[in-house]
Amino acid sequence: MKVDRRKAIALLGLGAATPAMAQAAGKVAFNHGVASGDPLQDRVVIWTRITPASPGGTVAYRWRVNPVDRRAGGAKQGSGVTGADRDYTAKVDVTGLDPGRAYTFEFEAEGVTSPTGRTITLPKGGTKDVVLAVASCTLYPNGYFNAYRAIADLPRVDAVLHLGDYIYEYGGPGSYGMNSPVAGERPHDPPREIISLADYRQRHAQYKADRTCRRPMRARPGSWRGTITRRPTTAGCTGRRTIRRRRRATGTPARRRR
Ligand SMILES: [Fe+2]
Repeated sequence: MKVDRRKAIALLGLGAATPAMAQAAGKVAFNHGVASGDPLQDRVVIWTRITPASPGGTVAYRWRVNPVDRRAGGAKQGSGVTGADRDYTAKVDVTGLDPGRAYTFEFEAEGVTSPTGRTITLPKGGTKDVVLAVASCTLYPNGYFNAYRAIADLPRVDAVLHLGDYIYEYGGPGSYGMNSPVAGERPHDPPREIISLADYRQRHAQYKADRTCRRPMRARPGSWRGTITRRPTTAGCTGRRTIRRRRRATGTPARRRR
C-alpha cells in the first residue's frame, strides 16, 4: 500500500483536523481565539468567544487594551456580559485610541485570561507603504490552512483582508471540495449543508477552533467580506442573508455598517 505524507500524518494522528479543546473542569475557556478588525484612526473592534463552563446562563468578562510602546497613557479597559443569545461572543469597539499606534488586547472571565492579541490603528495622514495579506476561499476539508500559517509568519503584515468564503456552507460527502485528500480527516461540522443560525455558529466555531485559522487575525486587524452563496437553498436567499447578518453581528470583529 502506498502511503503519502498526508495519509501518514493522518494515520499517526498528527493532523490538525480536530484540535484538542483546552478547558479545565468547571472553568470557562477561550477556544476560538481573539481577533481584531475594522481599524480606524481612533478605534478598533476586538473580539473573542468564551466557552462557558456549563451550558446556559451568562458570563461576565473584562477586556484590556494596552499600548505596545512605552509612552505614557493610552490604556483602555471595560467590561461586559455575554450569553447564548450572542453565542457567548464578546465584541467591543474600543474608542479613544491614538492613530498609528500598536496595542495588545485580552479578555478575562471567571479568572481565566484569553490569549493576547495584537492590533494597530490606522495612521494619520499619508503613509509611505502598507503591507496587506489577502485571503479568500478557505475550505476546511480542503487542507490545513497553510496559507494562513504563511501569513502569520510574515515579518510584516499591517492588515489581513478576507475577500469572501471565510467558511463554506457545503455539507458532507459528495458536496463541493469533499474529494480532497484530507477531506476524510477534516469533515465539515455539522456534516451537512448549513442553514440555520445555530448551524452557522457551529461551522464558524469549527473553523476558529483550528489554531492555524485564527493565527493571522490574532496578530493584526482584519476585515471580512462574508460568505458567498451562489445557489438557492431550502432556507432561501433572503432567509440566509438574514442569518449571515445575525451571525456576523456577533461572530466577527467587524464594525456595524451604517
Ligand atoms: Fe470561494
